[in-house]
Amino acid sequence: MTTDTLHRRRFLENGMRAGLTLAAAPALVTHLASCRPRQTADVGGITTPSRLQRTIDRRFPRARLAHLPTPLEKLEVLTAESPGSPSPGPQSPGLRAPGPRSPGPRWFIKRDDQTGLAFGGNKTRKLEFILQDALDQGADTILTSAGLQSNWARQTVAAANMFGLKTVLVLSKPRPGPVDYDGNLFLDALMGADIRFVEPDQSRQAVLDQTAEELKAHGRRPYVVSVGGSRPGGSMAQPLGAMGYTLAFVELYQQAQEQNTRIDSIVIANGSGGTQAGLVVGARAAAPHVRIVGINVSGAREPARNNIASIAQAAAHGLDLDMTITPEEIIVFDDYVGEGYGVMSPEIARAITLLARKEAILLDPVYTGKALAGLLDLNEREYFREDENVVFIHTGGTPALFPYRQEILELAETA
Ligand SMILES: Cc1ncc(COP(=O)(O)O)c(C=O)c1O
Repeated sequence: MTTDTLHRRRFLENGMRAGLTLAAAPALVTHLASCRPRQTADVGGITTPSRLQRTIDRRFPRARLAHLPTPLEKLEVLTAESPGSPSPGPQSPGLRAPGPRSPGPRWFIKRDDQTGLAFGGNKTRKLEFILQDALDQGADTILTSAGLQSNWARQTVAAANMFGLKTVLVLSKPRPGPVDYDGNLFLDALMGADIRFVEPDQSRQAVLDQTAEELKAHGRRPYVVSVGGSRPGGSMAQPLGAMGYTLAFVELYQQAQEQNTRIDSIVIANGSGGTQAGLVVGARAAAPHVRIVGINVSGAREPARNNIASIAQAAAHGLDLDMTITPEEIIVFDDYVGEGYGVMSPEIARAITLLARKEAILLDPVYTGKALAGLLDLNEREYFREDENVVFIHTGGTPALFPYRQEILELAETA
């Protein structure tokens, strides 16, 4: 039996014993049961981190936008204060042991909120590849779509400004009526984006297509890119956003080696899939023992796994890596989606305040707050081995703290 299988079995048994408290627990158990151990027999595409980096450098030129490497730090307080399960003491059976607790996993954070571009975030790494492609294609405008409080939109405007390109944003309004220029939307406007709003009853794709035609009719050369820069399509032929995270995996892995730290698991928020797909390719190619765990911020697990696997497969292909990446090997939890995209909960508020108060690190309410809430719950359920080193990637999004300030403070009280 592989360590992974043993680990998973132990986690399932513990979950059963603990009588799983979350409403989502049955789905979680089914998911864990179906998590296949990583295929160790498939050695195709295995390379070294530095060779992988050289391949990316050769094949996919990139503009320089990010301050790299971003810091990799130990979460000292969290590691000290969230030890593993109580060890069974010698007391009478049936009583919870008051005795010493096992050390539990060690927590690290990769500060991709510190990429340096207009409040930073994971999109900076993606945009290095995407902007270069746009410049190579002779574009003068970046055209993309997103939600009103999109981090992707903010980072796109910032990146385009750095290279003298215009940005047109097609942003969906959650409700009719005037918009509040707060958080990311304020920054989009501050940085001079041309913003087209999509009413709730309109099709965003239709507005996007119409805007592309309008720009072309005015002699502009738009580079059209999908939300999050993850999926190929529009003007982007390759999954360039994912390349940014394959490279990030190399950076993280080498940084951990310099710090004499072994990485066992990497946990991230999953949205449009490019971040996780890139990390999966990096891990499969250069360090297959590293587990990439995605926490969905919206949507169900199966479509997310299909999406990530297909982006990862295309990225591996683009890098000439001889590997097959299947949805079954992608680890994604949809148990923490709650009421849906961007909807706050006491658990998210608790995760945000915990990190702010214990480590002075600011998470965001839509992605990283939800992902950390998921990570904390998984830890309580002993998903991670006691001796694991777990890296949480802070993918940014902090400007969205401001539009959510009231809810966060109110919910933090009740959490
Ligand atoms: C702060 C933040 N974290 C994580 C993600 C998820 O990244 P991806 O869309 O590549 O899955 C996003 C995407 O918008 C984001 O803004």
